Amino acid sequence: MELIREYSGWLYLVGAILFILTLRGLSSPKTAIQGNRYGMVAMAIAVLTTFFVADHVVVWLILIPMALGAVVGITRARTVPMTQMPETVALMHSLVGLSAVLIAIAAILHNNHLVGLFEQNTSALQNAGVEQPHMSKVHFFELFVGCFVGAITFTASLFAYGKLAAKKWAKTIAGGWVKPLQAILFAVMIVCGGYFFTTGNMAAFWLMTAFALAFGWVWIAPVGGGDMPVVVSLLNSFSGWAAAGIGFTLENNMLIVAGSLVGSSGAILSYIMCKAMNRSILNVLFGGSASTAAVAASGEKVERNYRSGSADDAGFLMSNADSVVIVPGYGMAQGRAQNAVKELAMLLKEEGVKVRFAIHPVAGRMPGHMNVLLAEADVPYDDILEMDEINSDFPATDVVLVIGANDVVNPAAKDNPGSPIYGMPILEAYKARTIMVIKRSMATGYAGLDNDLFYDEKTMMIFGDAKKVVEDMTKSINGAGH
Ligand code: TAP
Repeated sequence: MELIREYSGWLYLVGAILFILTLRGLSSPKTAIQGNRYGMVAMAIAVLTTFFVADHVVVWLILIPMALGAVVGITRARTVPMTQMPETVALMHSLVGLSAVLIAIAAILHNNHLVGLFEQNTSALQNAGVEQPHMSKVHFFELFVGCFVGAITFTASLFAYGKLAAKKWAKTIAGGWVKPLQAILFAVMIVCGGYFFTTGNMAAFWLMTAFALAFGWVWIAPVGGGDMPVVVSLLNSFSGWAAAGIGFTLENNMLIVAGSLVGSSGAILSYIMCKAMNRSILNVLFGGSASTAAVAASGEKVERNYRSGSADDAGFLMSNADSVVIVPGYGMAQGRAQNAVKELAMLLKEEGVKVRFAIHPVAGRMPGHMNVLLAEADVPYDDILEMDEINSDFPATDVVLVIGANDVVNPAAKDNPGSPIYGMPILEAYKARTIMVIKRSMATGYAGLDNDLFYDEKTMMIFGDAKKVVEDMTKSINGAGH
Protein backbone atom coordinates (compact mmCIF):
# COMPACT_ATOMS: atom_id res chain seq x y z
CA MET A 1 0.00 0.00 0.00
CA GLU A 2 2.77 2.45 0.93
CA LEU A 3 4.56 1.42 -2.24
CA ILE A 4 1.55 2.27 -4.43
CA ARG A 5 1.18 5.59 -2.60
CA GLU A 6 4.85 6.37 -3.21
CA TYR A 7 4.72 5.48 -6.89
CA SER A 8 1.22 6.86 -7.55
CA GLY A 9 2.64 9.63 -9.76
CA TRP A 10 4.32 7.08 -12.01
CA LEU A 11 1.23 4.88 -12.08
CA TYR A 12 -0.88 7.86 -13.13
CA LEU A 13 1.66 8.64 -15.84
CA VAL A 14 1.41 5.08 -17.20
CA GLY A 15 -2.40 5.38 -17.06
CA ALA A 16 -2.30 8.70 -18.94
CA ILE A 17 -0.07 7.26 -21.68
CA LEU A 18 -2.39 4.27 -22.00
CA PHE A 19 -5.39 6.63 -22.35
CA ILE A 20 -3.58 8.41 -25.18
CA LEU A 21 -2.85 5.06 -26.85
CA THR A 22 -6.54 4.21 -26.41
CA LEU A 23 -7.59 7.22 -28.42
CA ARG A 24 -5.01 6.43 -31.05
CA GLY A 25 -6.26 2.82 -31.26
CA LEU A 26 -9.89 3.88 -31.52
CA SER A 27 -9.13 6.04 -34.57
CA SER A 28 -9.23 3.03 -36.88
CA PRO A 29 -11.50 -0.06 -36.92
CA LYS A 30 -8.42 -2.27 -37.33
CA THR A 31 -6.85 -1.12 -34.05
CA ALA A 32 -10.05 -0.35 -32.14
CA ILE A 33 -10.10 -3.57 -30.10
CA GLN A 34 -6.51 -3.03 -29.00
CA GLY A 35 -7.39 0.59 -28.17
CA ASN A 36 -10.26 -0.62 -26.01
CA ARG A 37 -7.94 -2.94 -24.12
CA TYR A 38 -5.51 -0.09 -23.40
CA GLY A 39 -8.47 1.90 -22.08
CA MET A 40 -9.54 -0.93 -19.78
CA VAL A 41 -6.04 -1.29 -18.33
CA ALA A 42 -5.66 2.49 -17.95
CA MET A 43 -8.98 2.75 -16.13
CA ALA A 44 -8.09 -0.15 -13.82
CA ILE A 45 -4.75 1.54 -12.96
CA ALA A 46 -6.52 4.87 -12.37
CA VAL A 47 -9.21 3.42 -10.09
CA LEU A 48 -6.90 1.17 -8.07
CA THR A 49 -4.21 3.83 -7.59
CA THR A 50 -6.79 6.40 -6.47
CA PHE A 51 -8.09 3.85 -4.00
CA PHE A 52 -4.68 3.62 -2.34
CA VAL A 53 -3.64 7.27 -2.43
CA ALA A 54 -6.82 8.65 -0.86
CA ASP A 55 -6.81 9.56 2.86
CA HIS A 56 -9.33 7.97 5.25
CA VAL A 57 -10.93 5.70 2.65
CA VAL A 58 -14.34 4.34 3.68
CA VAL A 59 -13.91 1.12 1.75
CA TRP A 60 -17.49 -0.19 1.79
CA LEU A 61 -18.83 3.17 0.62
CA ILE A 62 -16.72 2.82 -2.52
CA LEU A 63 -16.97 -0.91 -3.11
CA ILE A 64 -20.76 -1.19 -2.97
CA PRO A 65 -21.46 1.47 -5.67
CA MET A 66 -18.55 0.07 -7.75
CA ALA A 67 -20.07 -3.43 -7.63
CA LEU A 68 -23.54 -2.13 -8.45
CA GLY A 69 -22.14 -0.02 -11.30
CA ALA A 70 -20.23 -3.02 -12.66
CA VAL A 71 -23.39 -5.17 -12.66
CA VAL A 72 -25.42 -2.51 -14.49
CA GLY A 73 -22.55 -1.71 -16.89
CA ILE A 74 -21.75 -5.32 -17.81
CA THR A 75 -25.44 -6.21 -18.27
CA ARG A 76 -26.05 -3.15 -20.43
CA ALA A 77 -22.88 -3.70 -22.52
CA ARG A 78 -23.92 -7.28 -23.23
CA THR A 79 -27.50 -6.49 -24.16
CA VAL A 80 -27.49 -3.09 -25.87
CA PRO A 81 -28.15 -3.36 -29.63
CA MET A 82 -25.80 -1.39 -31.89
CA THR A 83 -28.72 0.82 -32.94
CA GLN A 84 -29.22 2.00 -29.34
CA MET A 85 -25.56 2.96 -28.88
CA PRO A 86 -25.98 6.77 -29.31
CA GLU A 87 -28.65 7.02 -26.60
CA THR A 88 -26.64 4.75 -24.27
CA VAL A 89 -23.61 7.01 -24.72
CA ALA A 90 -25.78 10.07 -24.01
CA LEU A 91 -27.05 8.45 -20.81
CA MET A 92 -23.48 7.71 -19.69
CA HIS A 93 -22.48 11.34 -20.26
CA SER A 94 -25.36 12.43 -18.07
CA LEU A 95 -23.84 10.38 -15.23
CA VAL A 96 -20.45 12.06 -15.67
CA GLY A 97 -22.21 15.44 -15.41
CA LEU A 98 -24.14 14.35 -12.34
CA SER A 99 -21.00 13.12 -10.59
CA ALA A 100 -19.25 16.45 -11.28
CA VAL A 101 -22.17 18.23 -9.58
CA LEU A 102 -22.23 15.83 -6.61
CA ILE A 103 -18.46 16.07 -6.09
CA ALA A 104 -18.60 19.87 -6.16
CA ILE A 105 -21.47 19.85 -3.64
CA ALA A 106 -19.63 17.36 -1.42
CA ALA A 107 -16.42 19.43 -1.51
CA ILE A 108 -18.26 22.62 -0.54
CA LEU A 109 -20.31 20.97 2.23
CA HIS A 110 -17.17 19.32 3.56
CA ASN A 111 -15.37 22.66 3.67
CA ASN A 112 -18.37 24.34 5.36
CA HIS A 113 -18.44 21.53 7.89
CA LEU A 114 -14.76 22.07 8.73
CA VAL A 115 -15.26 25.82 9.00
CA GLY A 116 -18.27 25.23 11.30
CA LEU A 117 -16.27 22.91 13.56
CA PHE A 118 -13.48 25.47 13.79
CA GLU A 119 -15.89 28.28 14.67
CA GLN A 120 -17.46 26.17 17.46
CA ASN A 121 -14.10 25.42 19.08
CA THR A 122 -11.92 28.29 17.87
CA SER A 123 -9.86 28.92 20.99
CA ALA A 124 -9.22 25.21 21.75
CA LEU A 125 -8.21 24.50 18.15
CA GLN A 126 -6.06 27.64 17.94
CA ASN A 127 -4.32 26.63 21.16
CA ALA A 128 -3.71 23.19 19.63
CA GLY A 129 -2.09 24.93 16.65
CA VAL A 130 -4.87 24.06 14.12
CA GLU A 131 -5.18 26.63 11.36
CA GLN A 132 -8.55 27.97 10.28
CA PRO A 133 -9.85 25.93 7.31
CA HIS A 134 -9.94 28.10 4.25
CA MET A 135 -10.92 27.46 0.64
CA SER A 136 -8.93 29.50 -1.86
CA LYS A 137 -10.53 31.58 -4.62
CA VAL A 138 -9.02 29.20 -7.18
CA HIS A 139 -10.85 26.33 -5.47
CA PHE A 140 -14.12 28.27 -5.49
CA PHE A 141 -13.66 28.95 -9.18
CA GLU A 142 -13.02 25.28 -10.00
CA LEU A 143 -16.09 24.24 -8.03
CA PHE A 144 -18.29 26.91 -9.54
CA VAL A 145 -17.28 26.05 -13.12
CA GLY A 146 -17.15 22.25 -12.57
CA CYS A 147 -20.58 22.31 -10.97
CA PHE A 148 -22.41 24.34 -13.59
CA VAL A 149 -20.74 22.59 -16.56
CA GLY A 150 -21.63 19.26 -14.90
CA ALA A 151 -25.22 20.35 -14.25
CA ILE A 152 -25.70 21.51 -17.85
CA THR A 153 -24.14 18.26 -19.11
CA PHE A 154 -26.44 16.22 -16.85
CA THR A 155 -29.81 17.57 -17.98
CA ALA A 156 -28.74 18.17 -21.60
CA SER A 157 -27.47 14.57 -21.92
CA LEU A 158 -30.60 13.26 -20.24
CA PHE A 159 -32.69 15.11 -22.80
CA ALA A 160 -30.48 13.81 -25.66
CA TYR A 161 -30.98 10.27 -24.33
CA GLY A 162 -34.77 10.75 -24.16
CA LYS A 163 -34.88 12.22 -27.64
CA LEU A 164 -32.79 9.46 -29.22
CA ALA A 165 -34.76 6.77 -27.37
CA ALA A 166 -38.02 8.46 -28.54
CA LYS A 167 -39.24 8.94 -24.95
CA LYS A 168 -42.46 10.92 -24.57
CA TRP A 169 -40.99 13.29 -21.96
CA ALA A 170 -38.20 14.46 -24.31
CA LYS A 171 -40.31 16.83 -26.38
CA THR A 172 -38.65 19.23 -28.82
CA ILE A 173 -39.61 22.81 -27.96
CA ALA A 174 -39.95 25.63 -30.46
CA GLY A 175 -41.11 29.24 -30.55
CA GLY A 176 -39.96 32.81 -30.23
CA TRP A 177 -39.82 32.48 -26.42
CA VAL A 178 -37.10 29.79 -26.45
CA LYS A 179 -34.03 31.95 -27.14
CA PRO A 180 -34.94 34.70 -24.62
CA LEU A 181 -35.59 31.99 -22.00
CA GLN A 182 -32.21 30.40 -22.75
CA ALA A 183 -30.51 33.79 -22.43
CA ILE A 184 -32.29 34.60 -19.11
CA LEU A 185 -31.46 31.20 -17.56
CA PHE A 186 -27.84 31.47 -18.64
CA ALA A 187 -27.44 35.04 -17.38
CA VAL A 188 -29.05 34.28 -13.98
CA MET A 189 -26.86 31.16 -13.65
CA ILE A 190 -23.71 33.22 -14.24
CA VAL A 191 -24.80 36.00 -11.86
CA CYS A 192 -25.55 33.47 -9.06
CA GLY A 193 -22.27 31.67 -9.74
CA GLY A 194 -20.38 34.97 -9.66
CA TYR A 195 -22.02 35.90 -6.35
CA PHE A 196 -21.08 32.53 -4.87
CA PHE A 197 -17.54 32.94 -6.18
CA THR A 198 -17.06 36.35 -4.59
CA THR A 199 -18.94 35.79 -1.29
CA GLY A 200 -19.15 32.00 -0.77
CA ASN A 201 -22.92 32.41 -0.25
CA MET A 202 -24.51 28.95 -0.29
CA ALA A 203 -27.98 30.12 -1.43
CA ALA A 204 -26.30 31.54 -4.54
CA PHE A 205 -24.55 28.21 -5.10
CA TRP A 206 -27.80 26.22 -4.93
CA LEU A 207 -29.55 28.70 -7.23
CA MET A 208 -26.68 28.55 -9.72
CA THR A 209 -26.93 24.75 -9.77
CA ALA A 210 -30.72 24.82 -10.23
CA PHE A 211 -30.49 27.34 -13.09
CA ALA A 212 -27.71 25.34 -14.75
CA LEU A 213 -29.88 22.21 -14.61
CA ALA A 214 -32.79 24.11 -16.18
CA PHE A 215 -30.54 25.72 -18.79
CA GLY A 216 -29.14 22.33 -19.91
CA TRP A 217 -32.63 21.13 -20.71
CA VAL A 218 -33.90 24.29 -22.42
CA TRP A 219 -30.66 24.60 -24.39
CA ILE A 220 -30.89 21.17 -26.02
CA ALA A 221 -34.67 20.73 -26.23
CA PRO A 222 -35.04 22.82 -29.45
CA VAL A 223 -32.35 20.82 -31.35
CA GLY A 224 -33.81 18.48 -33.99
CA GLY A 225 -33.42 14.69 -33.64
CA GLY A 226 -31.08 14.45 -36.66
CA ASP A 227 -28.60 16.87 -35.07
CA MET A 228 -28.54 14.96 -31.80
CA PRO A 229 -25.34 12.99 -32.66
CA VAL A 230 -23.41 16.28 -32.88
CA VAL A 231 -24.95 17.36 -29.59
CA VAL A 232 -24.04 14.04 -27.95
CA SER A 233 -20.45 14.43 -29.12
CA LEU A 234 -20.35 18.00 -27.76
CA LEU A 235 -21.78 16.86 -24.43
CA ASN A 236 -19.11 14.17 -24.37
CA SER A 237 -16.62 17.00 -24.59
CA PHE A 238 -18.40 18.91 -21.78
CA SER A 239 -18.45 15.89 -19.52
CA GLY A 240 -14.67 15.62 -20.03
CA TRP A 241 -14.10 19.26 -19.10
CA ALA A 242 -16.36 18.90 -16.06
CA ALA A 243 -14.33 15.85 -14.97
CA ALA A 244 -11.05 17.76 -15.51
CA GLY A 245 -12.38 20.65 -13.39
CA ILE A 246 -13.27 18.26 -10.59
CA GLY A 247 -9.80 16.71 -10.98
CA PHE A 248 -8.37 20.07 -9.88
CA THR A 249 -10.71 20.15 -6.89
CA LEU A 250 -9.71 16.66 -5.82
CA GLU A 251 -6.06 17.31 -6.75
CA ASN A 252 -6.14 14.16 -8.87
CA ASN A 253 -3.80 14.40 -11.88
CA MET A 254 -5.25 11.32 -13.55
CA LEU A 255 -8.73 12.85 -13.60
CA ILE A 256 -7.33 16.08 -15.02
CA VAL A 257 -5.52 14.23 -17.85
CA ALA A 258 -8.38 11.82 -18.64
CA GLY A 259 -10.95 14.63 -18.47
CA SER A 260 -8.90 16.83 -20.81
CA LEU A 261 -8.48 13.96 -23.29
CA VAL A 262 -12.25 13.33 -23.33
CA GLY A 263 -12.93 17.06 -23.52
CA SER A 264 -10.61 17.74 -26.43
CA SER A 265 -11.40 14.58 -28.43
CA GLY A 266 -15.15 15.26 -28.07
CA ALA A 267 -14.62 18.84 -29.25
CA ILE A 268 -12.59 17.67 -32.25
CA LEU A 269 -15.22 15.05 -33.21
CA SER A 270 -17.98 17.69 -32.99
CA TYR A 271 -15.93 19.97 -35.25
CA ILE A 272 -15.31 17.18 -37.80
CA MET A 273 -19.00 16.28 -37.88
CA CYS A 274 -20.09 19.88 -38.32
CA LYS A 275 -17.55 20.40 -41.09
CA ALA A 276 -18.72 17.24 -42.89
CA MET A 277 -22.32 18.51 -42.63
CA ASN A 278 -21.30 22.00 -43.75
CA ARG A 279 -22.80 23.46 -40.59
CA SER A 280 -21.31 25.55 -37.83
CA ILE A 281 -21.57 24.29 -34.28
CA LEU A 282 -23.59 27.44 -33.38
CA ASN A 283 -26.01 26.68 -36.21
CA VAL A 284 -26.54 23.13 -34.89
CA LEU A 285 -26.99 24.29 -31.31
CA PHE A 286 -28.99 27.45 -31.81
CA GLY A 287 -30.13 27.61 -35.44
CA GLY A 288 -32.27 24.51 -36.19
CA SER A 289 -31.73 22.95 -39.63
CA ALA A 290 -30.53 25.65 -42.02
CA SER A 291 -30.73 23.45 -45.06
CA THR A 292 -34.34 22.39 -44.52
CA ALA A 293 -35.38 26.00 -44.13
CA ALA A 294 -33.57 26.94 -47.33
CA VAL A 295 -35.33 24.21 -49.29
CA ALA A 296 -38.72 25.16 -47.99
CA ALA A 297 -38.13 28.63 -49.45
CA SER A 298 -36.76 27.43 -52.75
CA GLY A 299 -40.09 27.43 -54.63
CA GLU A 300 -41.95 24.88 -56.73
CA LYS A 301 -40.52 21.56 -57.85
CA VAL A 302 -39.59 21.05 -61.54
CA GLU A 303 -40.20 17.62 -63.10
CA ARG A 304 -36.97 16.20 -64.51
CA ASN A 305 -36.11 13.04 -66.42
CA TYR A 306 -34.15 10.18 -64.98
CA ARG A 307 -33.28 6.66 -66.09
CA SER A 308 -34.40 3.63 -64.10
CA GLY A 309 -33.38 0.00 -64.39
CA SER A 310 -33.86 -3.38 -62.73
CA ALA A 311 -31.79 -5.42 -60.31
CA ASP A 312 -31.01 -7.76 -63.21
CA ASP A 313 -29.58 -4.90 -65.31
CA ALA A 314 -27.46 -3.78 -62.39
CA GLY A 315 -26.27 -7.31 -61.62
CA PHE A 316 -25.20 -7.78 -65.22
CA LEU A 317 -23.30 -4.48 -65.35
CA MET A 318 -21.51 -5.05 -62.04
CA SER A 319 -20.46 -8.61 -62.73
CA ASN A 320 -18.88 -7.41 -66.00
CA ALA A 321 -17.06 -4.48 -64.41
CA ASP A 322 -13.41 -4.40 -63.37
CA SER A 323 -14.03 -2.21 -60.32
CA VAL A 324 -17.08 -1.46 -58.21
CA VAL A 325 -17.29 1.03 -55.34
CA ILE A 326 -20.22 0.67 -52.96
CA VAL A 327 -21.41 3.87 -51.25
CA PRO A 328 -23.68 3.04 -48.31
CA GLY A 329 -25.89 5.64 -46.66
CA TYR A 330 -28.74 6.02 -44.23
CA GLY A 331 -31.03 3.86 -46.43
CA MET A 332 -28.74 0.84 -45.96
CA ALA A 333 -29.16 1.21 -42.18
CA GLN A 334 -32.88 1.88 -42.50
CA GLY A 335 -33.36 -1.19 -44.71
CA ARG A 336 -31.00 -3.35 -42.55
CA ALA A 337 -29.31 -4.35 -45.78
CA GLN A 338 -25.69 -4.68 -44.53
CA ASN A 339 -25.56 -8.50 -44.58
CA ALA A 340 -27.14 -8.66 -48.04
CA VAL A 341 -24.62 -6.04 -49.21
CA LYS A 342 -21.73 -8.08 -47.87
CA GLU A 343 -23.04 -11.19 -49.72
CA LEU A 344 -23.21 -9.19 -52.95
CA ALA A 345 -19.68 -7.85 -52.44
CA MET A 346 -18.31 -11.35 -51.81
CA LEU A 347 -20.01 -12.73 -54.90
CA LEU A 348 -18.64 -9.94 -57.08
CA LYS A 349 -15.17 -10.58 -55.70
CA GLU A 350 -15.49 -14.23 -56.57
CA GLU A 351 -16.32 -13.05 -60.10
CA GLY A 352 -12.97 -11.23 -60.15
CA VAL A 353 -14.37 -7.72 -59.64
CA LYS A 354 -12.40 -5.31 -57.43
CA VAL A 355 -14.95 -4.24 -54.79
CA ARG A 356 -14.47 -1.50 -52.21
CA PHE A 357 -16.69 0.47 -49.83
CA ALA A 358 -16.54 4.27 -49.63
CA ILE A 359 -17.49 5.84 -46.30
CA HIS A 360 -18.50 9.47 -45.81
CA PRO A 361 -17.88 10.78 -42.26
CA VAL A 362 -21.55 11.71 -41.76
CA ALA A 363 -23.26 9.00 -43.83
CA GLY A 364 -26.20 7.67 -41.82
CA ARG A 365 -27.26 9.33 -38.61
CA MET A 366 -24.45 8.80 -36.09
CA PRO A 367 -20.64 8.94 -36.12
CA GLY A 368 -19.21 5.76 -37.62
CA HIS A 369 -22.73 4.50 -38.47
CA MET A 370 -21.66 2.81 -41.71
CA ASN A 371 -18.43 1.42 -40.20
CA VAL A 372 -20.40 -0.19 -37.39
CA LEU A 373 -22.90 -1.80 -39.77
CA LEU A 374 -20.22 -3.09 -42.14
CA ALA A 375 -18.17 -4.43 -39.21
CA GLU A 376 -21.31 -6.18 -37.93
CA ALA A 377 -21.64 -7.84 -41.37
CA ASP A 378 -17.94 -8.85 -41.25
CA VAL A 379 -16.85 -6.82 -44.26
CA PRO A 380 -13.00 -6.89 -44.24
CA TYR A 381 -11.55 -3.60 -42.94
CA ASP A 382 -9.14 -3.42 -45.88
CA ASP A 383 -12.11 -3.06 -48.24
CA ILE A 384 -13.48 -0.04 -46.39
CA LEU A 385 -12.03 3.33 -47.41
CA GLU A 386 -12.60 6.78 -45.99
CA MET A 387 -13.67 9.67 -48.23
CA ASP A 388 -10.17 11.14 -48.61
CA GLU A 389 -8.70 7.75 -49.53
CA ILE A 390 -11.23 6.88 -52.25
CA ASN A 391 -12.21 10.20 -53.85
CA SER A 392 -9.32 10.25 -56.32
CA ASP A 393 -10.26 6.70 -57.50
CA PHE A 394 -13.79 7.51 -58.72
CA PRO A 395 -12.84 8.64 -62.28
CA ALA A 396 -11.23 5.22 -62.88
CA THR A 397 -14.13 3.28 -61.34
CA ASP A 398 -16.48 1.35 -63.66
CA VAL A 399 -19.52 1.20 -61.41
CA VAL A 400 -20.49 3.06 -58.25
CA LEU A 401 -23.37 1.41 -56.40
CA VAL A 402 -25.06 3.95 -54.11
CA ILE A 403 -27.17 2.16 -51.51
CA GLY A 404 -29.59 4.48 -49.69
CA ALA A 405 -27.18 7.43 -49.73
CA ASN A 406 -28.24 10.83 -50.97
CA ASP A 407 -26.74 14.01 -49.44
CA VAL A 408 -23.26 12.52 -49.15
CA VAL A 409 -23.08 12.10 -52.97
CA ASN A 410 -24.92 15.29 -53.96
CA PRO A 411 -22.75 17.18 -56.52
CA ALA A 412 -24.51 20.44 -55.59
CA ALA A 413 -22.02 20.60 -52.72
CA LYS A 414 -19.29 21.06 -55.38
CA ASP A 415 -20.89 22.99 -58.21
CA ASN A 416 -23.90 24.94 -56.92
CA PRO A 417 -22.87 27.97 -54.84
CA GLY A 418 -26.56 28.66 -54.12
CA SER A 419 -27.09 25.28 -52.47
CA PRO A 420 -27.32 25.10 -48.68
CA ILE A 421 -24.80 22.25 -48.73
CA TYR A 422 -22.33 24.08 -51.00
CA GLY A 423 -18.83 23.49 -49.62
CA MET A 424 -19.68 20.25 -47.81
CA PRO A 425 -17.13 17.55 -48.71
CA ILE A 426 -18.81 14.69 -50.60
CA LEU A 427 -17.97 11.32 -52.09
CA GLU A 428 -17.35 12.21 -55.73
CA ALA A 429 -19.41 9.31 -57.12
CA TYR A 430 -20.54 11.48 -60.07
CA LYS A 431 -17.05 11.12 -61.57
CA ALA A 432 -17.41 7.34 -62.08
CA ARG A 433 -18.20 5.77 -65.47
CA THR A 434 -21.57 4.40 -64.37
CA ILE A 435 -23.58 5.18 -61.24
CA MET A 436 -26.38 3.00 -59.90
CA VAL A 437 -28.58 4.25 -57.08
CA ILE A 438 -30.80 2.08 -54.90
CA LYS A 439 -33.59 3.96 -53.11
CA ARG A 440 -37.35 3.65 -52.86
CA SER A 441 -38.36 6.86 -54.67
CA MET A 442 -37.00 10.19 -55.88
CA ALA A 443 -37.50 11.59 -52.37
CA THR A 444 -34.88 13.84 -50.81
CA GLY A 445 -32.52 12.86 -47.97
CA TYR A 446 -31.81 14.45 -44.60
CA ALA A 447 -30.98 17.92 -46.00
CA GLY A 448 -34.22 17.99 -48.00
CA LEU A 449 -32.42 18.72 -51.29
CA ASP A 450 -32.90 17.41 -54.82
CA ASN A 451 -29.85 15.53 -56.10
CA ASP A 452 -28.52 16.16 -59.65
CA LEU A 453 -26.67 12.84 -59.54
CA PHE A 454 -30.00 11.00 -59.89
CA TYR A 455 -30.71 12.82 -63.19
CA ASP A 456 -27.23 12.37 -64.64
CA GLU A 457 -27.15 10.50 -67.95
CA LYS A 458 -24.59 8.07 -66.47
CA THR A 459 -26.96 7.21 -63.61
CA MET A 460 -29.45 4.35 -63.36
CA MET A 461 -32.02 4.44 -60.53
CA ILE A 462 -33.08 1.08 -59.13
CA PHE A 463 -36.18 1.59 -57.03
CA GLY A 464 -37.01 -0.53 -54.03
CA ASP A 465 -36.07 -1.36 -50.49
CA ALA A 466 -32.27 -1.60 -50.16
CA LYS A 467 -32.21 -5.16 -48.78
CA LYS A 468 -34.65 -6.57 -51.33
CA VAL A 469 -32.93 -4.93 -54.31
CA VAL A 470 -29.46 -6.06 -53.21
CA GLU A 471 -30.71 -9.63 -52.65
CA ASP A 472 -32.29 -9.55 -56.13
CA MET A 473 -28.97 -8.39 -57.60
CA THR A 474 -27.15 -11.30 -55.92
CA LYS A 475 -29.78 -13.76 -57.16
CA SER A 476 -29.53 -12.34 -60.65
CA ILE A 477 -25.71 -12.69 -60.76
CA ASN A 478 -25.93 -16.22 -59.31
CA GLY A 479 -28.69 -17.12 -61.78
CA ALA A 480 -26.67 -15.84 -64.71
CA GLY A 481 -24.07 -18.48 -63.74
CA HIS A 482 -21.04 -16.29 -64.24
P1 TAP B 1 -29.65 10.83 -46.61
O1 TAP B 1 -29.18 12.01 -47.36
O2 TAP B 1 -30.48 11.05 -45.41
O3 TAP B 1 -30.44 9.93 -47.66
C1 TAP B 1 -30.86 8.65 -47.35
C2 TAP B 1 -31.66 8.09 -48.51
O4 TAP B 1 -31.95 6.75 -48.21
C3 TAP B 1 -33.00 8.80 -48.69
O5 TAP B 1 -32.97 9.67 -49.79
C4 TAP B 1 -34.01 7.65 -48.85
O6 TAP B 1 -34.66 7.79 -50.10
C5 TAP B 1 -33.15 6.39 -48.85
N1 TAP B 1 -33.74 5.31 -48.07
C6 TAP B 1 -34.29 5.36 -46.85
N2 TAP B 1 -34.72 4.14 -46.47
C7 TAP B 1 -34.41 3.29 -47.47
C8 TAP B 1 -34.57 1.90 -47.66
N3 TAP B 1 -35.17 1.11 -46.76
N4 TAP B 1 -34.13 1.35 -48.82
C9 TAP B 1 -33.55 2.13 -49.76
N5 TAP B 1 -33.35 3.45 -49.62
C10 TAP B 1 -33.79 4.03 -48.48
O7 TAP B 1 -28.47 9.88 -46.16
P2 TAP B 1 -26.90 10.01 -46.34
O8 TAP B 1 -26.55 10.20 -47.77
O9 TAP B 1 -26.35 8.87 -45.59
O10 TAP B 1 -26.54 11.36 -45.62
C11 TAP B 1 -26.62 11.52 -44.23
C12 TAP B 1 -27.28 12.83 -43.89
O11 TAP B 1 -27.57 12.85 -42.48
C13 TAP B 1 -26.39 14.02 -44.19
O12 TAP B 1 -27.17 15.11 -44.62
C14 TAP B 1 -25.79 14.34 -42.82
O13 TAP B 1 -25.38 15.68 -42.69
C15 TAP B 1 -26.97 14.02 -41.92
N6 TAP B 1 -26.55 13.74 -40.54
C16 TAP B 1 -25.60 12.80 -40.29
C17 TAP B 1 -25.18 12.58 -39.01
C18 TAP B 1 -24.08 11.59 -38.77
S1 TAP B 1 -23.13 11.81 -37.53
N7 TAP B 1 -23.92 10.57 -39.55
C19 TAP B 1 -25.76 13.26 -37.94
C20 TAP B 1 -26.77 14.16 -38.22
C21 TAP B 1 -27.16 14.40 -39.54
P3 TAP B 1 -36.11 7.09 -50.33
O14 TAP B 1 -36.99 7.62 -49.26
O15 TAP B 1 -36.49 7.49 -51.70
O16 TAP B 1 -35.90 5.61 -50.21
